[in-house]
Amino acid sequence: MEFNEVMEKRHSSRDFKKEEIIDEETLREIIKVAGLSPSWENSQPWNVYIATGENLEEIRKGWIAENEKEIKGSADMNPGHRTNFSERGQKNMADFMEDIGIFREDEELEYFFHVQHILFNSPAIVYLTLPKNYTRWSVYDLGGFGMSILLAATNLGIDSIPAYELVKYPYIIRDHLPVPEDEDIIMGIALGYESDDKINEYESPRLDLDEILKIN
Ligand SMILES: Cc1cc2nc3c(=O)[nH]c(=O)nc-3n(C[C@H](O)[C@H](O)[C@H](O)COP(=O)(O)O)c2cc1C
Repeated sequence: MEFNEVMEKRHSSRDFKKEEIIDEETLREIIKVAGLSPSWENSQPWNVYIATGENLEEIRKGWIAENEKEIKGSADMNPGHRTNFSERGQKNMADFMEDIGIFREDEELEYFFHVQHILFNSPAIVYLTLPKNYTRWSVYDLGGFGMSILLAATNLGIDSIPAYELVKYPYIIRDHLPVPEDEDIIMGIALGYESDDKINEYESPRLDLDEILKIN
């Protein structure tokens, strides 16, 4: 695939075919390619844990139970308050929640929350960690690494979504994966093959180039 095609094809899928699994060799290939990402002085601060099969089903069960009890998220990296985002950012976020709600005319926002709680039905979830006390530069590096995972997956015909939802109950992840206490679970990426559910057709709009770019 041409690079621009990969960029245009990648989008966040929110409902996967759980039975269509990704083999271990392919998962290894995606992470290996992502490892070509740049990082501060080549520090390569990332660690990767992938849950599949029974382990993932246990995590999913825990997730559904916590969400049913309406337990508030407590991600290792605090998401902060909405007001920490710029005014423009807050407006884009509000538009997103409204659009994705009305996009499914039938059950509206409820379905959006339902797929979050079942971890998007995905057959493989990638967890990205950093050693505790990471610098902000490592967060920058991890973001690039995460994007490379998304693109490497797309290039192999695999769909994905990066989501805060996937890391909001880190203690459940720790119960089922060997993440040491001295690492923070920063972000999760669900991988799989998207279903034909309408929610996967939603396209998040982008700002006009001139709103974000100044060349002088
Ligand atoms: C840091 C981060 C956190 C996100 N968290 C969620 C989430 O919890 N739930 C969700 O449905 N989408 C989540 N997303 C996906 C965004 O909504 C999506 O990337 C954005 O709308 C742009 O759409 P696209 O990925 O389809 O291009 C997250 C994306 C990022 C980068």
